[in-house]
Amino acid sequence: MIIFNVPLITGNEQKYLNQVLKNQEFTSGKLFSTRCCKWIETLLKSEKVLMTNSCANALEMSAILMNISSGDEVIMPSYTFVSTANAFVLRGAKIVFVDIRPDTMNIDETKIEAAITDKTKVIVAVHYAGVACEMDTILEIAKKYNLNVIEDAAQAIMSRYKGKMLGSLGNIGCYSFHETKNLHCGKGGAIIINDKKFIERAQIISEKGTNRLKFLMNEVDKYTWVDIGSSYLSCELNTSFLYSQLEMSEEVTKKRIALWDLYYQNLKDVLEIELPIIPKECVHNGHIFYIKLKDLDTRTKMIEYLKDNGISAAFHYIPLHSSPFGKLNTFTSGNMYYTETESNRLLRLPLFYQLQFEEVNYITDKVKEFFIKG
Ligand SMILES: Cc1ncc(COP(=O)(O)O)c(C=O)c1O
Repeated sequence: MIIFNVPLITGNEQKYLNQVLKNQEFTSGKLFSTRCCKWIETLLKSEKVLMTNSCANALEMSAILMNISSGDEVIMPSYTFVSTANAFVLRGAKIVFVDIRPDTMNIDETKIEAAITDKTKVIVAVHYAGVACEMDTILEIAKKYNLNVIEDAAQAIMSRYKGKMLGSLGNIGCYSFHETKNLHCGKGGAIIINDKKFIERAQIISEKGTNRLKFLMNEVDKYTWVDIGSSYLSCELNTSFLYSQLEMSEEVTKKRIALWDLYYQNLKDVLEIELPIIPKECVHNGHIFYIKLKDLDTRTKMIEYLKDNGISAAFHYIPLHSSPFGKLNTFTSGNMYYTETESNRLLRLPLFYQLQFEEVNYITDKVKEFFIKG
């Protein structure tokens, strides 16, 4: 069976975990969390990075930092993971969904302006499959209406837009290091703060609303509760594991892109399917390879056919506006035409670092065979 995802193991995780056990320093802010922060700050040329327990945590921190409260409106695509919306719903925000572009599955930047009201506070740009949203346009709109931009770059580490790393373009960027991502620590994340004015408060919020960091830096003689917050920072067990993965990021990304390219080459002449489109401004990270089939019925049959041939393939997000919670608690601006049609047709094929090139050839042979036999 070719399974859908195998989490990456670099071989150095054990060594770094042993170092943590030897040092007996487990909480955040020690050796490996500092190393991970610095590594990401250098890669992104970003002002400040904090390591969190998940991308969901990073998004929740962003919502607090932007003072989102009851009735504030937040614009995002409906074609995203539930955590993108939850972070703002938890603060009482009104979620306003905008349709996606069919080529990248990202928010359609040409439809954002129509969704803005005097209550709008934030635009969330979700970089689906590690392919960038049209960021110049989004940042321009945000500037015009004085809004903040949060990049949900959960899937986008090592991806670029016009040469710049994703996560470094908005006021804040959020990464996921969940085991399903290119680089991981089982469950983890990072908040990337590109706007200096958020740094001090981010440190307080991440430490349960206390000024503990100031205490550790001898700036106050005891620490105390000064703001709202939660326990958002990840521990050394997670960051030591993650650090071994960050060290291998170039090699991992290169291999994933090579596998992605092979899929693309093998399938580009198959008339019955559509393949992902990478805009010329974007360099992606090989996070997802998907095909689009004629319709939902064809996709269901393809999933069955691949399964019968030992291949596990998966569809992706059910649009949030059509979910039981979303139907009652969220809003749409304009229709969700592409969100609905494209999410029904999209099928992800296995893609992970350890996947063999021969396995990709086998998978693409079976995809083609489906149309001949079917
Ligand atoms: C677009 C997007 N945002 C947020 C998340 C949440 O990430 P985490 O599991 O690290 O909280 C995911 C997870 O897959 C995601 O795909």
